[in-house]
Amino acid sequence: MSSRADLARMIDNAKRVVVFTGAGVSTESGIPDFRSPGGVWSRMKPITFQEFVGSEAKRREAWTRAFTGAAGWDRGAPNAGHYAVARMIASGRAGAVITQNVDNLHQASGVPAEQVIELHGNASFAKCLVCEARHELEDLKAPFMDRGVIPTCRVCGELVKSAVVAFGQPMPEGPMQRAEEETLDCDLFLVLGSSLAVYPAAGFPLMAARNGAKLAIVNREPTEQDRFAHLVLQDEIGPVLSEIVPA
Ligand code: APR
Repeated sequence: MSSRADLARMIDNAKRVVVFTGAGVSTESGIPDFRSPGGVWSRMKPITFQEFVGSEAKRREAWTRAFTGAAGWDRGAPNAGHYAVARMIASGRAGAVITQNVDNLHQASGVPAEQVIELHGNASFAKCLVCEARHELEDLKAPFMDRGVIPTCRVCGELVKSAVVAFGQPMPEGPMQRAEEETLDCDLFLVLGSSLAVYPAAGFPLMAARNGAKLAIVNREPTEQDRFAHLVLQDEIGPVLSEIVPA
C-alpha cells in the first residue's frame, strides 16, 4: 500500500500537476457525496435532463430540491482539502482543478475561477436552456416557493434550469475541451475523492495515464480505476493534503 510520503514525492517530482476532484473532497465540509452510504443517490433519484424538459412535475421536484438545498450543495465552507488544493494552484505546482463538483468550494477556497474547470456545472445559479441567459436563484426562489411559479427566462421566455449538468444533458463543450488540454499537458494527474464511475468525466484519469502521466488516486474506497494508477492512497483527503501540502 502506498504511503503519504510516496504521494509527497510524486508531487515534488512532478513538473505540472492536474488536480481532479469529486464529491469526496467536499464531505469534510459537511456536503454528502453521491455513492457512499447515506449519499445523495441513496436518498433521491437523479432527475434526468429529459425528465426536466418533458415533465412539469419533474421540473417542480427539481426546483424544490434546488430551493430547499436537498443535495446540500448550498451550504458548507471549504475544508482543509480545498485549501491545500488552492495552495498547489497558488504555488504554480498545479495548473488547474478539473472538478465534477457543483458546490463552488474550489472558488470559495481561493482558486481563481479561470483555473477551476467545472465539468458538471455549478449549483449556485441558473441558466436559460435556449438563450443561456444567467438567472440568480434568489430572483427565482420566492415566486416558486410562494406561488409555485416555475422559472422561465426573463429574456426569451423559455425554460430555465439550474446550471448543474443533469444526466442526459450535453456536457459543456468549453470545460470539456479545457479539461482535455490540461490532462494532456500534465505529468501527474491527482484524483481526490471520486468513485470514477461517471463518464465522460471519469475518462480523463485514463487519458492522462495513457498519455504517459503518472496517475495518483486519494480516495476512501477503491475506485474503478485503481488498477491504472501508479499510486492509490485509501485515506482521508483533508489530513493527507494538509500533511503533504502544508500551509
Ligand atoms: N476522503 C477521501 N475520500 C472520500 C472522502 C474523504 N473525506 N469522502 C468521500 N470519499 C470518497 C468516497 O469513498 C467515494 O468513493 O469519495 C468518493 C465519492 O464518489 P461519488 O459519491 O461517486 O462522487 P463522484 O465521484 O464525485 O460522482 C461523480 O456522479 O452523480 C454524478 O454528477 C454527479 O459529479 C457527480 C458524479
